[in-house]
Amino acid sequence: MKCIALASGKGGVGKTLLTAAFGLALAEAGHAVLLVDGDMGLRNLDLVLGVSEKAARTSWDLAQGKCFEEDALISVRPGLDFLPASEKEEWKTISRHALCTVMEDLAPAYDYVLIDCPAGLGKGLRFAEEVADEWILVMGPSQASLRDAERTAEWLKGRRPLSLVCNNFRAGPGAAVSWEAMADAADGLPLLGVVPHSAEADRLAQEGRLADCRPDGAFREAVGLVLRAFLHHAAYPRSRWQALLRRAEEEQVFRQEARPSGASALLRRQRRSAFRWRRR
Ligand SMILES: Nc1ncnc2c1ncn2[C@@H]1O[C@H](COP(=O)(O)OP(=O)(O)O)[C@@H](O)[C@H]1O
Ligand SMILES: [Mg+2]
Repeated sequence: MKCIALASGKGGVGKTLLTAAFGLALAEAGHAVLLVDGDMGLRNLDLVLGVSEKAARTSWDLAQGKCFEEDALISVRPGLDFLPASEKEEWKTISRHALCTVMEDLAPAYDYVLIDCPAGLGKGLRFAEEVADEWILVMGPSQASLRDAERTAEWLKGRRPLSLVCNNFRAGPGAAVSWEAMADAADGLPLLGVVPHSAEADRLAQEGRLADCRPDGAFREAVGLVLRAFLHHAAYPRSRWQALLRRAEEEQVFRQEARPSGASALLRRQRRSAFRWRRR
């Protein structure tokens, strides 16, 4: 069993989305995976996984002995289980040690346990610090995100292997900052890879259907490559990531072009039926 924590310092950079995407990819590859929502009070992973209605019992209920494992654990799909975070309680009112005991009980049944950490450097991170074997820091396309990833790395220094994922980056004129510049600036953090901005992944995550992302798209391929880099300690050349980002941009343009024609087809159909009504 390997326990991996996804952290960033900054909020909104894609920890939750990537935790779900990595979990889905690992389960698809045949591994037994447990996803743990570590964002007490501000949980979201249940939404992205599309299991909000089932997430009645939480890790905190389990830690307090208010329910059994089978009440709290949600089977998302074969090979992928999910342990929800408390919605009402925040980290400051939760016993980190009790939760660590829960993790000790559950983790041996899985090949991988992924923890979706909260933003910031508080108690939630201390919990992950006690249970995680390795850390993946997620960095978005902003200077603030770079600074926060560096602060988190400093905070965790020397304790665990740390690696970096650049997420939500674009190639070409749409890019606010280049991932190459950001990765170079985060010197000392080994780069696993870059996950491109994907409007499709964003939309499907909102709908709780991330698993429906097109399998041949750049987003899925990037997630798979990042995972391989992480699991096999491989480093792919920058040209590979640049090509992926360019492909993601092309997919985006293609989709934007496809949409108006879809809309005009709908308009044509509406006009046709209006014409038929007038003739009656
Ligand atoms: N690669 C990406 N492409 C498109 N949207 C993304 C990507 N990564 C994250 N997002 C979107 O950004 C928002 C914040 O992501 P989230 O995973 O909730 O961040 P965090 O958990 O770090 O706060 C969500 O709407 C999510 O769908
Ligand atoms: Mg989150």
